[in-house]
Amino acid sequence: TTFETIITEQRGRVGIITLNRPKALNALNSQLMAEVVSAAQAYDTDPSVGAIVITGSERAFAAGADIKEMSEKTYVDMLSEDFFSAWGHLVEVRTPVIAAVAGFALGGGCELAMMCDIIIAAENAVFGQPEINLGVIPGIGGSQRLTRAIGKAKAMDMVLTGRRMKVEEAERAGLVSRVVPTESYLDDAIAVATTISELSLPITILAKQAVNRSQEVSLAEGILFERRVFHSTFATDDQTEGMAAFVEKRDANFSHR
Ligand code: HXC
Repeated sequence: TTFETIITEQRGRVGIITLNRPKALNALNSQLMAEVVSAAQAYDTDPSVGAIVITGSERAFAAGADIKEMSEKTYVDMLSEDFFSAWGHLVEVRTPVIAAVAGFALGGGCELAMMCDIIIAAENAVFGQPEINLGVIPGIGGSQRLTRAIGKAKAMDMVLTGRRMKVEEAERAGLVSRVVPTESYLDDAIAVATTISELSLPITILAKQAVNRSQEVSLAEGILFERRVFHSTFATDDQTEGMAAFVEKRDANFSHR
């Protein structure tokens, strides 16, 4: 497939999706959404890919939904096309997805990062939900995922004032997984992805599902889900291999499908 708004590249077992609308600071338009979803789904069903990285440029991960595309739309347009609902397919991807974020991650850019499983943030990364300044509100999960990530006090502050959060505050608040030097953020994110991609793919899928379950259900239900899934790992060759490798003091040789 040829894409126009993204670049895809596989390195080892890592599939990389680079947002590529530099003149618009990677603003997310409908074509870019369709291409990211399509590329992520293709990697997800490819057993040679064990982790996915989504990144932008050093200046901007993404400066939000494309305001020029949205500006002419009416309520009925938005409703009829269920505007931006297709982003929901990204969180159906079972392979771990790592956001490598540098520069602006604003509005839909911040929301896209939060749809990923791990956020590796460069020292120059800036997060925000500035929609309120445009007379709208977050529309791809910002009001919900940001609140779950950093709590109501800070989420309200961000969503109601539209202020930007630098990376130190973002890490303190629990929005990002790691802060790394801007010079190396993409390599650092790919290294994290490579580590994950070399583990058992079926087991990483289950681990991701277990953590994600915590965002949806009560603690008791989540614990029950976890225990059932934990028990089920004993039905896999990878449990046998992983534990045998430890006992025999050697590296495990996991399956990747
Ligand atoms: C369309 C955008 C854009 C956006 C930047 N550009 N952000 N185009 N949509 N979200 C374009 C600019 O128009 C400009 O192109 C070029 O990118 C460079 O931007 P500048 O503003 O000249 O750069 P700078 O002065 O460095 O400022 C960077 C910035 C600013 C602070 C990131 O661009 C900005 O505030 N952008 C909007 C951020 C925002 O409000 N995001 C939320 C969007 S709403 P031209 O050709 O004009 O020079 C949203 C809703 C999500 O995300 C929910 C949807 C369902």
